[in-house]
Amino acid sequence: MVRPFLKWAGGKYRLIDRIAASLPPGKRLIEPFLGSGAVFLNTQYERYLLADINPDLIHLYRTLQQERSEFIEYCRELFQPQWNRSERYYELRAEFNEISPGIRKSALFLYLNRHGYNGLCRYNLSGGFNVPFGKYKKPYFPANEMLAFADKAKRATFICADFESVMKRARRDHVVYCDPPYVPISPTAYFTSYAKHGFSLHDQERLAFQAKRLAQRQVTVVISNHENEVTRAMYRDAKLVSFPVRRFISCNGQQRGQADELLAIFS
Ligand SMILES: C[S@@+](CC[C@H](N)C(=O)[O-])C[C@H]1O[C@@H](n2cnc3c(N)ncnc32)[C@H](O)[C@@H]1O
Repeated sequence: MVRPFLKWAGGKYRLIDRIAASLPPGKRLIEPFLGSGAVFLNTQYERYLLADINPDLIHLYRTLQQERSEFIEYCRELFQPQWNRSERYYELRAEFNEISPGIRKSALFLYLNRHGYNGLCRYNLSGGFNVPFGKYKKPYFPANEMLAFADKAKRATFICADFESVMKRARRDHVVYCDPPYVPISPTAYFTSYAKHGFSLHDQERLAFQAKRLAQRQVTVVISNHENEVTRAMYRDAKLVSFPVRRFISCNGQQRGQADELLAIFS
């Protein structure tokens, strides 16, 4: 198993076997919600089209793809102990928020991912990265994982876009795997805290609609999500496979819960 080099909310590393088993063979795997790329790293397609709406993430992957070891060595500098202090963290975070895309910005994004609180990726309304310092003793520098990613990335194209335009690029011999931000575990959450969700119920429906359209054109689309009444209704045209997973529901750790994981297979 190949580990992603970024910490990412909703990372699929632990569910890889189940997901890979549901993906048919094909010439190219398209992942419109790439995140840390766990599925990309642990499947064997000839070509990959990898996309995410987060420009910082896609710039980092492109930098690593182009610069490889030189970029890894550049990043290593930022993992020296003198940079693992609160004041230094906030200085580097401010620099990240000011500069334009390039090697420095990509390296700082990796630094923030490994030194920030819980590996979170969060921005304020003006687009500034605003995750607080993580207070880790010794943040791990993922050199080997970055190298493995760079090797595999020779077969990949990275784009920053909304999922709909990415899915429209699928052709008959392609396979699409979608891992969107999940619907809330409790279906009523959409109506009580609508504004908190960057990915709305409308977006979820837009995704289900695109999946159905692609299946009509003989492209298999697999979507991960929580299993609940909203997703069962939304994916009624797909074959549904569900299985239990252990996850944290709230961040204070008091309420751990079983919310089944769903794979909707449109083919
Ligand atoms: C659950 S994460 C994917 C996790 C990934 N499978 C992994 O193993 O790390 C969802 C991703 O969707 C991206 N995203 C959110 N809205 C999007 C949109 N409208 N179009 C494309 N990507 C989007 C987020 O930036 C995030 O990286």
